[in-house]
Amino acid sequence: MQKLHRGSRIIGSGHYCPEKILSNFDLEKIVETSDEWIRTRTGIRERRIANEQEASSDLALLAAEAALKDAGIKADDIDGVIVGTVTPDMQFPATACLVQDRLGAKNAAAFDLGAACSGFIYGLNTAHGLIVSGQMNTVLVVGVEVLSKFLDWQDRATCVLFGDGAGAAVLGPCDPDDGILGTYMRSDGSLADLLWIPAGGSRAPISEFTYQQREHYIKMKGDGVFKYAVRAMVDATSIVLKQADLDLEQVDHLIPHQANIRIIDAVIGRLGIPEEKVVVNIDRFGNTSSATIPIAFDEVRKSGKIKSGDIVLFVAFGGGFTWGSVLFRHTEPAGRSG
Ligand code: UT7
Repeated sequence: MQKLHRGSRIIGSGHYCPEKILSNFDLEKIVETSDEWIRTRTGIRERRIANEQEASSDLALLAAEAALKDAGIKADDIDGVIVGTVTPDMQFPATACLVQDRLGAKNAAAFDLGAACSGFIYGLNTAHGLIVSGQMNTVLVVGVEVLSKFLDWQDRATCVLFGDGAGAAVLGPCDPDDGILGTYMRSDGSLADLLWIPAGGSRAPISEFTYQQREHYIKMKGDGVFKYAVRAMVDATSIVLKQADLDLEQVDHLIPHQANIRIIDAVIGRLGIPEEKVVVNIDRFGNTSSATIPIAFDEVRKSGKIKSGDIVLFVAFGGGFTWGSVLFRHTEPAGRSG
């Protein structure tokens, strides 16, 4: 890779998940399913669900405020707000603009990034590019979804899988040999109909017909997603390690997108990484799409398990089809343990 004049690193993180818990037992009362089926097929026990008033910008704001506080910076120090989401408050303006306003980040550009479950990884990679190119110094990246409002609660194949939540990270400049050591992003739009919401855009505006067909809800071909997900995550892991000239043994924490425990287990098996290095919280939050990685990172970091100098690898796949990874050497802010 070309030698950079400066790098970027995560200087703060935060997350927020709605208070309401929906357990597998609660779901047994909504669709024909069982706690046993959901646990053994997905690893999920419960997920958080936004209340009627809560939209993505509400969750994103709380995660962002926590990340700014953690980074010890003020909102007007932020140059960019990037929100990875496929469940925006509305078609436009961007949810990032709503977050920018409510944060008081009056010096920031703001835009949404639609890469489904890879949204946070795409956002981090974009923020890294903006910082190393010198266009921005401090960028807030949020992954947020309120998927519960786009789920078909009559479709047991999808409604048991997803949850709502938000995670955020603040990126700032650092020495070029520190912080983010490798980034990777790919897509394959020929797989678009594996996971999508068919109606509600300019292709199929919502009509009586699309409404009757329930096409304004998430549709998924679960087995297809499964097959591509494992391959994509294994490839994205290997490629980003190669970029940084590191071996898998040097990775201290692998934080994969939390979509299904069997996908995570298959990735662990193919890579041959010890289980204890892999962060898993899908049992408590389900699949929160673009928010899974920043929520898991913030949780595990604040538990003290990630120390300064540790090598961390994020890897995700999602609708689009999109996939990607970020590899970095973590530095805890001064005053924190590690
Ligand atoms: O971020 C990306 C998001 N998406 C994913 O990661 C999805 C990846 N795919 C998966 O996680 C899995 O494919 C699923 C969990 C969605 C499904 O697991 P599976 O082992 O592939 O099950 P299946 O689709 O082959 O279905 C097996 C059976 C079917 O019944 P029959 O036809 O064998 O009688 C389904 O109707 O399980 C049935 N089924 C359910 N049963 C109880 C499907 N959903 C449920 C359910 N409860 N919630």
